[in-house]
Amino acid sequence: MLVLLIISWAFTVAVATVSYDNKAILINGRRRILISGSIHYPRSTPDMWPDLIQKAKFGGLDVIQTYVFWNGHEPSRGQYNFQGRYDIVRFIKLVQQAGLYVHLRIGPYACAEWNFGGFPVWLKYIPGIAFRTDNGPFKAEMQRFTTKIVDIMKAERLFEPQGGPIILSQIENEYDLVEYQIGNPGVAYSRWAAAMAVNQHTGVPWVMCKQQDAPDPIINTCNGFYCENFTPNRNYKPKMWTELWTSWFTEFGGPAPYRPVEDIALAVLKFIQNNGTYFNYYMYHGGTNFGRTAGGPFVATSYDYDAPLDEYGLPREPKYTHLRELHFAIKRAEPALVSSNPMVMSLGSNQEAHVFKARGLCAAFLSNYDQTYSVTVNFGNGRCNLPAWSISILPDCRTEIFNTAKTRLHGSHKNMLPVMGSFWWQSFTEPVTTPADKGSFTVDGLKEQLSVTWDTTDYLWYMTDVTIGANEGFLRTGKLPILSIQSAGHALQVFVNGQSVGIAYGKAENPKLSFWKAVNLRVGVNKIALLSATVGLQNIGLHFESWNAGILGPITLSGVNDGKWDMSRWKWSYKKGLNGEDMGIFSSRGSSFVRWTGGAGLVTRRPLTWYKTAFDAPQGNEPLALDMSSMGKGEVWINGQSIGRHWAANKAYGSCGRCSYTGYYNEKKCLSDCGSSSQRWYHVPRSWLSPKGNLLVVLEEWGGDPRGISLVRRTG
Ligand code: GAL
Repeated sequence: MLVLLIISWAFTVAVATVSYDNKAILINGRRRILISGSIHYPRSTPDMWPDLIQKAKFGGLDVIQTYVFWNGHEPSRGQYNFQGRYDIVRFIKLVQQAGLYVHLRIGPYACAEWNFGGFPVWLKYIPGIAFRTDNGPFKAEMQRFTTKIVDIMKAERLFEPQGGPIILSQIENEYDLVEYQIGNPGVAYSRWAAAMAVNQHTGVPWVMCKQQDAPDPIINTCNGFYCENFTPNRNYKPKMWTELWTSWFTEFGGPAPYRPVEDIALAVLKFIQNNGTYFNYYMYHGGTNFGRTAGGPFVATSYDYDAPLDEYGLPREPKYTHLRELHFAIKRAEPALVSSNPMVMSLGSNQEAHVFKARGLCAAFLSNYDQTYSVTVNFGNGRCNLPAWSISILPDCRTEIFNTAKTRLHGSHKNMLPVMGSFWWQSFTEPVTTPADKGSFTVDGLKEQLSVTWDTTDYLWYMTDVTIGANEGFLRTGKLPILSIQSAGHALQVFVNGQSVGIAYGKAENPKLSFWKAVNLRVGVNKIALLSATVGLQNIGLHFESWNAGILGPITLSGVNDGKWDMSRWKWSYKKGLNGEDMGIFSSRGSSFVRWTGGAGLVTRRPLTWYKTAFDAPQGNEPLALDMSSMGKGEVWINGQSIGRHWAANKAYGSCGRCSYTGYYNEKKCLSDCGSSSQRWYHVPRSWLSPKGNLLVVLEEWGGDPRGISLVRRTG
């Protein structure tokens, strides 16, 4: 029996290993060129997962890469959630069933345009904590969560040596820059993080992306639009590319970036011909920032990313198919690629050949880096036409089977076809909050927003009274006083005596905002109520946990007899959240707590108004979305679940010219939707719908007309 056990143990160890050398990751002793794609499990629904994974497999991927989203898994300290969209074990098992591998980026810092970079907001309020540095309380929490995830994966036997699909893990994320900025504590922290990870004994290699000093045995990897010139920090580590950006994310207020597939394919082959061995599309399917998961500030609800699988899970052409053909061409060349180093030959002033030769194998890459001209080169026993800015693969050194610039399919135009336009809407307008409302409290001065809300809601009310004496000069002259407000962001709506007098909001590059307006004040007490809203918390940058939100002042009133009043130190009352949120009126139970009015009583274009309607699911299974272009800013719920923030009123600023695939790409090069809503359509997951009577609730902060909302089908 003992002998049998030893034999089976030895057998397991012998066949199921993941290791690496300077050439490649080795799985069970075999060197591989691994083709990977990011799909973040909470950015789609469990119902979509099998299809996304199948399409990724059909697209030629070997590996699915995902971050682990700490704040989704531990919303309150010690209370875990591994259900629904956060059922990470189910997601990984589905990948395994499809026969693909997993690269698990535990982080637990993710960045990812995800709220607070993936950190739970309660983490910020642990006494003495400082994120991502040599700080005891932070390291203790990071280790606890990392261990929790590793233990779950081990218990489910999901690491490759246990027979599972996980072949790689990641600790931290792009720490280089922070380390450079903070010096010694940063060096100490990254060493600690590396040792902590290695001591988890997962049996698979760890990577640290953008971490030049990643200690052995951790592999440092590259992230970027191009990575051909990257070299690992030791000559015995393989050259890996953990984030190949398939385009970029959209921000509210910005245009939608896209990246031509010809350039992505070129970037891949430049990397592969320079000994690259693993690359991961970030994103392969971007998906949706449901609920309040978007980071930022100002990251849009759609995380489409111009990825090969679009936000709705449909193939985006010609991207998807062209990359699929690229992958099959790489696979044909793989035996030669993993067995030799390339010989590089010049074929002209801007043209080269990379030839991989080993034991009867030969694969060649022919490149033309000229941005304007195509060329015909002589190679082997034939001639090969190379369009501008392109690379061809000849897996047998004779026949071209793929060129990065020769796409066979044309762009398919995705349509958003209305299926339902005239919903029967009812409205409910929130009264503007007063200090007498339940849950309000009063203190001297202005409070930072997150310190009050802990991000349980986007909203915080700031309220004060302004008493105007009958002797104020402006009452006679009619020259109204000016209310001026400085806020750390992200958006603001100002009410005077219950009336909205204006809005202001920041931008992604600078979330701070200023409000300045002449206001009509009357003799006696005037009620000032300021509704401050966050739009996703900071997810990147040095000590991003210390970024403030909300109205920090100064707040002044000028044009009074005294000249100017500084109201910043006055008594201010606070109330977090909206009444509708407190009552949960977006759910079927909560919606019965208020009186809705419809028909002639429907209120439109009024701030702080909730709308509800019911609808039956359209036939078929095409993906669905809401066209929100008639609305301002707020949030949308289907059957009680939030599909995310809507903000069609925020128009894309910038100029969107024509964009050529040739020449180096960056996220500002190819843009669309300038002058239109940054995001007009909002994904409604099919699986959230019942056949009949679905509750749709829209919160509108600024004023909109719900009669313009329609449900559309996305068709391929
Ligand atoms: C990277 C980061 C990712 C994501 C990406 C931009 O620097 O590692 O998490 O934020 O940028 O989409």
